[in-house]
This record gives sequence, C-alpha cells and structure tokens, in this order.
Amino acid sequence: MPAEVKLSTDPDDFIVKPDWNAYTETEHATWRTLFQRQAALLPGRACREFLDGLETLGVAADGIPDFERLSDVLEGETGWRIIAVEGLVPDDVFFHYLANRRFPVTWWIRKPEQMDYLQEPDAFHDIYGHVPMLANPVFGDYMEAYGKGGLKALGLNALNYLARLYWYTVEFGLIDTAEGMRIYGAGIVSSKGESIHCLDDPKPNRLGFDLLRIMQTNYRIDDYQESYFVIDSFDQLFAATAPDFTPYYDELRRRPMLKPGDVLDGDKRF
Ligand code: PHE
Ligand code: CO
Repeated sequence: MPAEVKLSTDPDDFIVKPDWNAYTETEHATWRTLFQRQAALLPGRACREFLDGLETLGVAADGIPDFERLSDVLEGETGWRIIAVEGLVPDDVFFHYLANRRFPVTWWIRKPEQMDYLQEPDAFHDIYGHVPMLANPVFGDYMEAYGKGGLKALGLNALNYLARLYWYTVEFGLIDTAEGMRIYGAGIVSSKGESIHCLDDPKPNRLGFDLLRIMQTNYRIDDYQESYFVIDSFDQLFAATAPDFTPYYDELRRRPMLKPGDVLDGDKRF
C-alpha cells in the first residue's frame, strides 16, 4: 500500500459484531423472500461465476447467513473475508478494506415495506449481491486491485473517475458469454426489477467495455441505469485495469464528461 496514504480514521472503528441470534423471524423472512425472488429469476440471467459463488459459499434461502461462518468459507476459497459494518464507511477506509481483501457488509436488513427499493446497501444487497463474486479468483483479485487503486486515486484527486468504474462494473456490470448476455453486477442481481430491465428492456444502452469511456460517464443513483457496459471476460476486466491509471486520469481531465444515456460513434453496441 502506498506509504503516503494516511487514513482519516482507524478502520477498526467501523467494524461491528452483530449477534446472529438477534435477527428476528421477520428479518429472516425478508431474506427468504428476496432470495427466492432472485432464485426464480437469475438462472439464465446471472453469470455462471455468480451462481457458482452462491452455491460454493452456501448462501441459501434459509435465512440471513451467519457472518463468521460465511467469512470462513469465503476465506478458504479466495482469502477474502467479510466484515460487518453499520453502513457506508469513509472512502479511504473502504479502499483500505478492499486492498486487504476485506469486504464490508452492512449488517441490517431492509424492512418488509422496502422490498423493491432501497437508497443504501443492506445485508441482502451486500451479501447476496457482492459476496458470491468474491469467491471467484479473478474477480477477487480485481476487487483487491480496485482498493489499492482507490487509495492511489485519493492522492491524485481522481476519485470521481474511479467511482464510475466501480459503478459500471462491480455494481452494474454485464458480461457477454457463449450462452448469451449475463449479469455480474451486485446492484442488478440484488434487484428484481433491474435484473429484468438490464437484459430484456430495449431502452437501455448495452455498450462494449471501454475503460476511459466508462470513467468519463456519469451515472444515476435514483433509477435503473440508462447504459450498461459489457465485458467479454473477467480476465479482460482485470487486464484492462492493471496499468497505472495516473496518465489515464490526466487524459480524463481533458475529456468532456458524458451523460448516463449518451452513445458515441465509437461505442460498440450490443
Ligand atoms: N491499475 C489501477 C491504478 O493504477 C488500479 C486499479 C486496478 C483500479 C483495478 C481499478 C481496478 O490506479
Ligand atoms: Co454494492
């Protein structure tokens, strides 16, 4: 990790120890409903790596998983662990966790009346959406590299660019596979409506992955995405993001910002 990065706060300050036995039957029922809705939808829509991850980790319909047990299984797969937190943490702390193969998971779960829409991540989004992909070795390495890149971007004042990459890959990424277009983004797989919208609705753009183009593009946080970016493979994603971004950030500062729905002549359209 770059030595010049001094964290704003002790990263341990955000870690909580939720008591799994304290989850109520209503909370487990919320998990079950959300899980079953997605289980009915995702075969044929989510990528194999995501579905394999759910199975390998034993993330299942029965209820909110025990964090410690899940963490132990995940660690055995790729060395990643999950840590429970109250909610969003400062950027530098978040990057520090990722750089050390720790994924922060919000411990609380949404209320029954919030099944379809939430502004902030909850345990279902974080565990069901993000954790299965961390069991994939290439994706796990990408997430660690992203964390290290985040600490570096902070020092270069380039967080706005790097945040868009997270958004359009980790949260809302699509992948073109031999069987067809599939979802890997956590924001999609944890949302019933967007799991359908991103693949079946003719409105949104589905554009070929282009690193600088993505980092130029604003995104919406209040509605389904107007554009999704499609990778060919996780190896492609990892390789494209491996170079030092410092010159890319210089280039991006010279480029115009793009709106979420913009389509350029050079875009590959799916
Ligand atoms: N290679 C990037 C850099 O030098 C770090 C990074 C890796 C960023 C993977 C995002 C994803 O900044
Ligand atoms: Co998320």
